[in-house]
Amino acid sequence: MHRRNFLQLSAATLAASAFPSSARPTEIPHLRDLAKSKSLLFGTAVSDSQLRRPDFTPLLLDQCSILVAENQMKWRATHPEQDRFDFSPADFFMDFAASHNIPARGHNLCWHEHNPAWLDATITPQNAVSLFTHHIQTVVSRYKSRVHSWDVVNEAIEPAHKNHLGLRNSLWLQNIGEDYIELAFRTAAKADPTAILTYNDYDIETDSPSQTAKREAVLDLLRRLIKKHVPIRALGMQSHLRTNEGTPTWNGLNKFLKEIEKLKLQVYITELDVDDQFMPADIPKRDRQVADLYRSFLDTVLRHNSVKAVLTWCLSDRDSWLQNFRPRKDGLPQRPLPFDAELNPKPAFVSIRDAITAQDVYYRR
Ligand code: G3I
Repeated sequence: MHRRNFLQLSAATLAASAFPSSARPTEIPHLRDLAKSKSLLFGTAVSDSQLRRPDFTPLLLDQCSILVAENQMKWRATHPEQDRFDFSPADFFMDFAASHNIPARGHNLCWHEHNPAWLDATITPQNAVSLFTHHIQTVVSRYKSRVHSWDVVNEAIEPAHKNHLGLRNSLWLQNIGEDYIELAFRTAAKADPTAILTYNDYDIETDSPSQTAKREAVLDLLRRLIKKHVPIRALGMQSHLRTNEGTPTWNGLNKFLKEIEKLKLQVYITELDVDDQFMPADIPKRDRQVADLYRSFLDTVLRHNSVKAVLTWCLSDRDSWLQNFRPRKDGLPQRPLPFDAELNPKPAFVSIRDAITAQDVYYRR
């Protein structure tokens, strides 16, 4: 299929017809260029194995102007033993991005998950600050001046735990106390003053009561950090969307993003995908619903000038974490991403293209 023909396809046409598997990445529009024309970055998470697949990297390079390491920079990957760091997967990711002149996001420096077993076995209130700051200092220094932005703290809020700040009861909270968050940002800033330091969290998008409460707790956290002059410059909204509570609405999100703008923080949509577990088995119907959710969400967030980047959590359905973590009850593969398992664009791709196209470049500055 020729590029012009693809451009003429509407999302509905794409949904109704199987997209020819002969369509190659070079023949479809490039979201990276479209995003650039609107002062936006478009990108995705990539794993080590995806970066080694010659059938995949041309698509990645055509479509993306920013990349993030899916797992390669997490504690378990970079710090497998207490006295040993392993930077080979992270180096491979950073070198790939640099060799193609693509900005790279670091993910992440502090999380309650994907930590090495030795950490749980070793950490105490006495050694926690030193383990924590040594890790952050070592990892951030290694990539000094080469990282676009770091997810410094990931998923620290969980209002369900009902402590007074809505902080998740993580190993960091238990062993360092609530100041671990600002300690992480200050340590990272000292190691690399150029990287945009980001707080990243999920389930802060919809109007559901639980997401509304979490969004409030995140806003409170960001306000506290800024009041204390903590060097944070961006919010990452993961945006793992789903329809478990019906079709989401975004009224609270609009108000929230106005508050974030007052704090002068940039916003990155860091892990966008759509869990289709609660959608019909029929593929055209399912793809349509997934695409509609992409469109309504992106139409909402891209109106806000603070939103500077949109990254999906992988590009192709074959690589999505949802296949293993949220399998459909009917056993069918999930279809959460803009490209299908054979790397053909889906209606979700058209939604992203159209949502970016619809943004007014003058408004976005
Ligand atoms: O690499 C090993 C492999 O050697 C082994 O055979 C296999 C057996 O299960 O596991 C492989 O590691 C898995 C790794 O993904 C790579 O596939 C881990 O078990 C698995 O836990 C890990 O899951 C990742 C998850 O974070 C936990 O770190 C997902 O790929 C990754 O997509 C997911 O990403 C998170 C973000 O970091 C934060 N926000 C939510 C998002 C989705 O959960």
